[in-house]
Amino acid sequence: MKERGERITVLTCHDVLFARILEEAGVDMILVGDSLGQVALGYDSTLPVTLDDMIHHAKAVGRGAPATFTVVDLPFLSYQVSAEDALRSAGRVLKETGAEAVKLEGGDAAAVATVARLVAAGIPVMGHLGLTPQSVHALGGYRVQGRGTGAATRMLDEARALEEAGAFAVVLELVPGPLAERISGGLTIPTIGIGAGPGCDGQVLVLADALGLNPGFTPRFLHRFADLHGEALRGARDFVAQVRDGAYPGRAHTFESEGPA
Ligand code: KIV
Repeated sequence: MKERGERITVLTCHDVLFARILEEAGVDMILVGDSLGQVALGYDSTLPVTLDDMIHHAKAVGRGAPATFTVVDLPFLSYQVSAEDALRSAGRVLKETGAEAVKLEGGDAAAVATVARLVAAGIPVMGHLGLTPQSVHALGGYRVQGRGTGAATRMLDEARALEEAGAFAVVLELVPGPLAERISGGLTIPTIGIGAGPGCDGQVLVLADALGLNPGFTPRFLHRFADLHGEALRGARDFVAQVRDGAYPGRAHTFESEGPA
């Protein structure tokens, strides 16, 4: 797609109902992201998410979107201890979920060596640079990365190293637009941006944010493509009101003593 100049569409997903919707919508790739921690499990970061959590949700996504290329995040501490540990974690993801690939964060020498180890074992790997949420405390918060010449050059070098290690794509999160464009132009593999401007080869958003299920989250890069929070709230309030005033269930919703089920 990058060679043909076609922009790649990626959305995160954690359950079967939305997986069906994303497959029907024709999204190019589903990411079972460890944003699972915040958007489905109620944590305030991705750090508590376990490999078992990821596998449980990735299986549900696989049942809903069997024909869509699916990448699963390796969660915090499921790949950082050693490349062998990473191989065991990634192997479990592919064997147990049916997903096609895994994603891991970082571009230092250890992360690059881990990518090479997984790729050598036949496991497709997507990289993740810029704001890497599993390092949120080390980075001092959720903020734009790669500002300043030194940081920008380092990110460019890390992106090249991930490509050389065999990564098939790299996510760029919260990266200044000009730097993301430069990295995208310098790689043959596609970049998938989130908060990284239009110069990336594709775009990813967290589904709950993109569909307006998370109205308190308002970063500059986000565009809401629907207002599911508003619609869900309206429906739930209607249910409460109609049950209370006796409008639901009516005769149309009630089985007779005899007749069709
Ligand atoms: O976990 C996730 O949803 C992600 C995206 C933000 C890229 O990694």
